Amino acid sequence: MNILGISAHYHDSAAALVVNGVPVCAVQEERLSRHKGDAAFPLLAIESCLQQAGIEPEALEAVVFYERPMLKFDRVLTCTLRAFPQSWRAFPKAMKNLLGEKAWMRGIISSHLGVPGRKVLFTEHHQSHAAAAFLTAPTRRAAIITADAVGEWATLSVGDGERRPNGSTKIRRFREIRFPHSLGMLYSTFTAYLGFKVNEDEYKVMGLAAYGRPTMIEQVRKLIRRTPDGAFLLDLDYFEFHTTAERSYSLRFVELFGSPRNPYEPIDLDTTEGQRFADCAASVQQVLEDTLVELAQALHHETGLTDLCLGGGVALNGVANARLLAESGFERIFVPPAPGDAGCAIGAALYCDRIHFGNPDRDFPDHPFWGPSVDGTELARIAREDGHNSEELSDGALIDQTADDLAAGRIVGWMEGALEFGPRALGHRSILTAPHTTEMRDRLNCEIKYREPFRPFAPVVPIEAADRFFDIPSGGTRLARFMSGVFPVRPEWRSQLQAITHVDGSARVQVLEPVMAPRLHALLESYGRRTGVPVLLNTSFNLAGEPIVNRAVEGYSTFLRCKIDVLVAGGTRVTKRTSTMRSTEAERIREEVA
Ligand SMILES: [Fe+2]
Repeated sequence: MNILGISAHYHDSAAALVVNGVPVCAVQEERLSRHKGDAAFPLLAIESCLQQAGIEPEALEAVVFYERPMLKFDRVLTCTLRAFPQSWRAFPKAMKNLLGEKAWMRGIISSHLGVPGRKVLFTEHHQSHAAAAFLTAPTRRAAIITADAVGEWATLSVGDGERRPNGSTKIRRFREIRFPHSLGMLYSTFTAYLGFKVNEDEYKVMGLAAYGRPTMIEQVRKLIRRTPDGAFLLDLDYFEFHTTAERSYSLRFVELFGSPRNPYEPIDLDTTEGQRFADCAASVQQVLEDTLVELAQALHHETGLTDLCLGGGVALNGVANARLLAESGFERIFVPPAPGDAGCAIGAALYCDRIHFGNPDRDFPDHPFWGPSVDGTELARIAREDGHNSEELSDGALIDQTADDLAAGRIVGWMEGALEFGPRALGHRSILTAPHTTEMRDRLNCEIKYREPFRPFAPVVPIEAADRFFDIPSGGTRLARFMSGVFPVRPEWRSQLQAITHVDGSARVQVLEPVMAPRLHALLESYGRRTGVPVLLNTSFNLAGEPIVNRAVEGYSTFLRCKIDVLVAGGTRVTKRTSTMRSTEAERIREEVA
């Protein structure tokens, strides 16, 4: 049975294909269209999924959309009318949006793919998040929490899931919290207030929080009130996101916290103003963590289960996840590589397979690599045409050479096998460097990633060596599998791991099992033999404002446009010839990528 899952029209569209109960492909539209955060109907992603499986749309038994558009319509209409007359300006835009593509999804999918309308199915947004979290996790029974900004009405749900010995699957939702009361909206309101992009830059708030102290926690608590049933309510006097798309916080919010940050001015942490913003980030971060911990503790008490699956965009908060592991009572926490809305494509397809059609439970590989594969020979061809140094090496020689490059302080673009699904590069489309010095961090920030200096880089370490360098609690390696937890770097190693140690001594470490990415694992070991420290800095292979690279040509284009020294794809290793690239050549590459 072939089931296609689609998530679209909010941010970061994606498609995923499940064949006979097993995912065969999942990819975000942005990685193919090359528009970061592409929210369009994911035609390219769908095409890529069908191509990988070698099937035509007629062979699809079902196409599942990840939420119910009419319920969403109901929410937007209700909230807009409730907020009238303040919402009168936003009303035409909201209606146009919803009455455009979103509300008529069945017809749109049917006409795009040429499948009959009866084959188009819908799951609820938080059902998709729950399925993406639970059905991709190697656990038979788990409690489930999903939390995001908003789906149709739900913003947070708690429940459980069970894969029974007879092959049937059950996912239950016990309770939900509904819009406008939303942990995701609370956090993204602060994201906007702190001058970052909502739905995109929430991780910058988390990074900034490490520089501050939670001195404004009492103020943040005025915004969110816990209720006797264990839920919470936002005090809507401080917000405007429920009445207008233009501003998420109200004048009362500004009276409470002071002037918002000008997004065009850098944050200077040496000034009182810069410190106020860091304190503000630390305060909302702590309230988010406290609220999640209390909700999870109650769910642990209620279910008596040892495993927790976390879904929704809030699950990208690695600091909160680590606190959940430490304090909620759950022994293992599973966060999928794509807990946000893109991941709902795979969640919707699996939910439909297991629950709607009642197909038997199936195990499948526990990795994030569900996208298209990179072609090393394509890289060799392009590089040779341009006169750059290209060589084809055997596996062993390539790993030794790359370890030498890294030990010599070179920056390596590393492309391998299938593209990661989700926002994080986990070793198949990564920029790798030595992790030892702040100079390397600054070099990456200034010459390649062009990003704020307060943002930390992440390390990758083989599972066998993880405990030597990082203070990872029991159950923590599971969170660290997909970089979903932030843990302390052991104090004795911090001076040797400066480029990946955040200001508070922590790191968003990826703990790598050999089976997940064998070549990267071998590279880490080889690097460890040279330096005594089998740890590398691993950051996503992209430039600021661009999606992570997918094909060899995109890796090559990125390599030419920044100061990456070595590019590896499959068995091909490319270095720049000594002369600077001519601008016409750069132009040609840009055209080829486009
Ligand atoms: Fe969501």
